[in-house]
Amino acid sequence: MAHEPKNFETLLADCKAFLSEKQLKAHFTLYQGYVKKLNEIEEALGKADRTVFNYSFAPYSELRRREPVAYNGTVLHEAYFENLGAPGQEPPAPFKKAVADSFGSWDTWIADVKAIVGSGHGWCLTTYDFNFMKVRNNFVQGEHHVGLFPNQAVLIAIDAWEHAYFLDYGTAKADYLAGVLNHLNWKAIEKRLQWTLLAQSKAS
Ligand SMILES: [Fe+2]
Repeated sequence: MAHEPKNFETLLADCKAFLSEKQLKAHFTLYQGYVKKLNEIEEALGKADRTVFNYSFAPYSELRRREPVAYNGTVLHEAYFENLGAPGQEPPAPFKKAVADSFGSWDTWIADVKAIVGSGHGWCLTTYDFNFMKVRNNFVQGEHHVGLFPNQAVLIAIDAWEHAYFLDYGTAKADYLAGVLNHLNWKAIEKRLQWTLLAQSKAS
């Protein structure tokens, strides 16, 4: 069944203090492109000849090579748009405790997020790591797939690619990040943490 792009138009009002309509709408268009390509790839995989595969080239092999780009481009953008919202929300106590338990302090986590975003283009993901049962930051590069750790639940996704901010901020990436941190949708993030800890408790 085909994936449908989600509608994030409420962000035009919620985030207008730090992202223009032009910037956000351009980003929505890019996201919709990933959903379209994910549908194309999944449809083509459904019809592909699985008996013909090759390291250098075969249609099936190429579809599998490109699948993570469209898949991660889709789900990471959805995580990012869903964890943005109206400004000035307070991080919930359970999330602050989980971060402090894993990073030593809230400020260390914030400093680490800033350091990742400043390190280059890609994704800064704050995850719950099911391998080591802790909150972790994960710097994902390449085409939304290089460096992605396995067995992670994404709690916060921050898009640190130029297309996410360049129309509004140019090279002032730190100002864009400050806007993101002030517009995190903590209710959505808290719900992700609750689901994650529930899954962990059911598994153990
Ligand atoms: Fe993006």
